[in-house]
Amino acid sequence: MEEEKMGWGSSLSVPSIQEILRNDSISVPERFIQEEKDRPQLVSENLPDSPEIPVIDFSLLAKGDEDERRKLDLACKEWGFFQISNHGIEKEVLHQMKIAVSTFFQLPLEEKNKFAMAENDIQGFGQAYVVSEEQKLDWNDMIYLKTLPSEIRNFKFWPLTCPGFKEAVDKYSTEVQNVAAEIYANLSILMGLGREGLKELQGEIKQGIRMSIYPSCSRPDLVLGISPHSDGSALTLLLQDDEITALQIKHKESWVNVKPIPDSLVVNVGDAIEILSNGVYKSIEHRAITNEKKDRISIAAFVFPDEEQEIGPLESMVDELHCPRRYRKIKYVDYIRQIMAMKMEGKAHTDIVKLEIK
Ligand code: OGA
Ligand code: NI
Repeated sequence: MEEEKMGWGSSLSVPSIQEILRNDSISVPERFIQEEKDRPQLVSENLPDSPEIPVIDFSLLAKGDEDERRKLDLACKEWGFFQISNHGIEKEVLHQMKIAVSTFFQLPLEEKNKFAMAENDIQGFGQAYVVSEEQKLDWNDMIYLKTLPSEIRNFKFWPLTCPGFKEAVDKYSTEVQNVAAEIYANLSILMGLGREGLKELQGEIKQGIRMSIYPSCSRPDLVLGISPHSDGSALTLLLQDDEITALQIKHKESWVNVKPIPDSLVVNVGDAIEILSNGVYKSIEHRAITNEKKDRISIAAFVFPDEEQEIGPLESMVDELHCPRRYRKIKYVDYIRQIMAMKMEGKAHTDIVKLEIK
């Protein structure tokens, strides 16, 4: 009963792409072939003059540097995405986290299925956002775990037998949470509150991590690693493969590649910050393509408000004359449940709480 109450929704169960490929690594099954309008246009998207997302120097931000904070403000307004350098998380911690994830995905399916998602939750090994049998499937396998604070962990879904897994997640989740907290504090200031303002209003931020494998694909032109979506989080911090460009974001109506900077993190504004900021900061649609030659791993840490908190535009971001209230208030868990039951299809998730502006 308690668990049912805590659930964030459910997703239909789908076959593991790694397992499909183990039997036949050449064919692309019908259910994974995107409709023509949704397929990635691989050639034009690799244009050398494609614009690049902003880079923020975290060490300056942490020192209270105002120029850097202004850069953060601009990045969240104009891009909704940025990369952070000098975040201070040791390379070894990043490396161990990547190893832990790749070790997990190398386990036999039977073993991974021991951590399969439950009917009424999105934690565990499986797929989220699959809401119909007709829906096209994404070329990835994933495991999602709630990680922080540690009381919200449900070890039923944790591959504790996987060597080094728990240690790596313990360390990485804590460090990435500290980075997130500093960005949160800076956003608080930018939104007219004190450093601790958001925390005082919303409580301690929580964290869940989505670990994904995007196996190499014989036809990257036909499939998507992950379909276009925005994140329901407050912020997302993504650790990705240093070598493979796969993440793409919608910027001024076009898909723009996020070229990895080794050992940096990609950060994006999620729906909750878009709503809290009254739409000043944007939760941008993004997707990932696949690579013809190499498997890719990514680790997305979502930080999010307490489920029982209401989210709505901060008073400091509303000005009836120049910047009227754009979203209604909603309890965070209700927001998440609603978006989990939707496929995005080009519409913003935040539309469900948009107010009509007269
Ligand atoms: C996500 C996501 C992108 C990637 O997990 O929400 O957008 O590159 N991942 O894996
Ligand atoms: Ni995402």
